[in-house]
Amino acid sequence: MMKCTVTSKVVMDQKAGALLFFVKEGFKFDKELTSLAKTYFPPLKEHMQNAKFEGKYGQRLVIQGINGDKVQYLFFVGLGLGKKDKFALTFGPQELVRRVTAHAVRMAENAKLTSMALELPEAAFFGITIQEVAESCTVGALLASYSFNQFITNKDEHAVLLEELIISVDAKNSKECKTGIESGELIGHALNRARHWIDLPANKMTPHTMVKNAQEIAKKHDLKITVFDEKKVEELGMGGLKAVGMGSQHDPHLIILEYKCGKKNAPTLALVGKGITFDSGGLNLKPTGYIETMKEDMAGAASVINAIAVLSEMQVPVNVIATAAMAENMVSGHANHPGDIITFYNGKTAVVGNTDAEGRLVLADALAYTTKHYNPDAIIDVATLTGAVSHAVGPFFNGMLTQDDKLALRVEAAAKTSGDAVWRLPLIDEYKVMVKSDVADLCNDGKTKYFAGPTNGACFLSNFVGETPWVHIDMASTAFDVPDVPYVRTGATGSSIRLLIDFVRQWK
Ligand code: BES
Ligand code: MN
Ligand code: ZN
Repeated sequence: MMKCTVTSKVVMDQKAGALLFFVKEGFKFDKELTSLAKTYFPPLKEHMQNAKFEGKYGQRLVIQGINGDKVQYLFFVGLGLGKKDKFALTFGPQELVRRVTAHAVRMAENAKLTSMALELPEAAFFGITIQEVAESCTVGALLASYSFNQFITNKDEHAVLLEELIISVDAKNSKECKTGIESGELIGHALNRARHWIDLPANKMTPHTMVKNAQEIAKKHDLKITVFDEKKVEELGMGGLKAVGMGSQHDPHLIILEYKCGKKNAPTLALVGKGITFDSGGLNLKPTGYIETMKEDMAGAASVINAIAVLSEMQVPVNVIATAAMAENMVSGHANHPGDIITFYNGKTAVVGNTDAEGRLVLADALAYTTKHYNPDAIIDVATLTGAVSHAVGPFFNGMLTQDDKLALRVEAAAKTSGDAVWRLPLIDEYKVMVKSDVADLCNDGKTKYFAGPTNGACFLSNFVGETPWVHIDMASTAFDVPDVPYVRTGATGSSIRLLIDFVRQWK
C-alpha cells in the first residue's frame, strides 16, 4: 500500500526515483527549469520543444536525468489551463488534480520505480484551497496505486507499484497541506478498500462476507451496527429482499450502520446501497456477454459502508445512516418466479415481472425501512440499477434522478468537487404509470413502450420513500471497467463514494 510522506525540503533535494513537476499550459522556461536542466539534463529546453511538450492537460514527458553517478527520472505532467481548462469546467478542478497525479503514478510504474517526489501545484491556478489540492493529489495517487492482485501468486511478474509518495510542502502552508493529505489518505484508502470488495468474485464475496466487513468497519470507527438475517427480514415483512435472496445458498441480509455526531438538532442523512453480490438475473437469466461482471452489483453497498467510515473519521456535524441491502440473485428450485407477487416492508405489493430487475426489489425494503425508522432529512441511494444508464450517459457520468430540485443542486455541487460526475435524467409523475400493474400495486419491469430504463427504476423506488427528500444515483455506468481514467485499470472504480462523502460534508 502506498505511503505518503510530507517534507519541507524542496523536490530537487529528494532521493526518490523520480522527481515530478507539474507544468501549466504555455509555461515559460523559467529559472527553476533552467537550474533543473543544468543539474540533470542540459538539453531540457530543446527536448521539450522537440517533443511539443506545452503543458496541456494530461501531457507527459519522461526524462532520464543524471545526478552525479545516479539516474534520477524527471517527470513533467501538463496541468492545462487550471480552473479554466475544459476538463476542469466539466469535471471540476479537484478531479484535474487527481488525474494529473495519477498520470505521474503511471509514469513511475512504467519506469518500475517505487518512489516519487513532488511539489503540490499552486492552488490559485485551480481556484481551490491548498488543502483541497493536497487532498486531491493524495487521492489521485492512492487510487492510481490500487491493483487487484490478491490472487496473483508471483507478484514480481505483476506491475511494479509505487510505494512512497514524498510531498514537499511550503512551510507557510504546511498545516493546511497536512490536513489535506490526511483526509486524502482516508478517502483514498476507503475507495481502494471498496474496490477490493467489489473486485472480489462472488465465491469470495457473499452477503455474509459483507456483514463481516461491515462489522469490522463498525468496530474500527465506533459505529452502531444492526444486521437483519433472513429470518428477521422475513419477520419484518421485507418481501423484496427475501424474494431476491431465495434462489441462493447465501442468505440475504440488511445491514445498517449509524454515525451519531453528538450535536443537538443535527440533521440526519441516509445513504442506501444496492448489494447484490452476484446478479445472474435469476430465472430471467442473463446471457453470455452480460453476466460475467455481475460481481460488481454490490458496488452501492460497498460505497455506503465505506463512505460512512470516512465521514465518521472526519467527524462531520450531521448524523449519518448507511443501509446496505445484501442478497445474491441466483437460479435454483427455490428461486422466485417471474409473476410472483410480493409484499414489501411498507405494505405495498409488486408483481415480479422480471427477476433480473432485482435491485429495485431489495432497495424498496431498504428505503422503506430507513425512511420509517430514521426519518432522515434526505436520503440518497446509490445502485448499479440499470444497463440502460450506460447507454444514456456513457461511462463518465452517473445517472441522477430526483424530483427535488434543491437536492439536485446539492448533488451537482458534490459531483463537481468529488469528480463523481452526475447527469440528471427525467423523473416526473407522468412517467410513474409505467410501474403500475393490473394484479398488484406495482410491477418491477415497467411498461417497455416507455423505454427510459433508469427513469423506470426510479419510478419504482419513488414508492418507498414517502415524503422524504430523495435522490437516486444509478451508478451502473461508472462502477466497473471505466476506460481512459488514469487512476483506474480494469475492474472496480470506487465511484459514488466521493460523491456521498462530499454530499454529506457540504451539507449545511
Ligand atoms: N445489475 C443490473 C444492471 C447492470 C447492468 C449493472 C450492467 C451493471 C452493468 C440490474 O439488476 C439489471 O439487470 N437491470 C435490468 C433491468 C430490467 C430487467 C428492467 C437491465 O438493466 O436490463
Ligand atoms: Mn438484474
Ligand atoms: Zn442487478
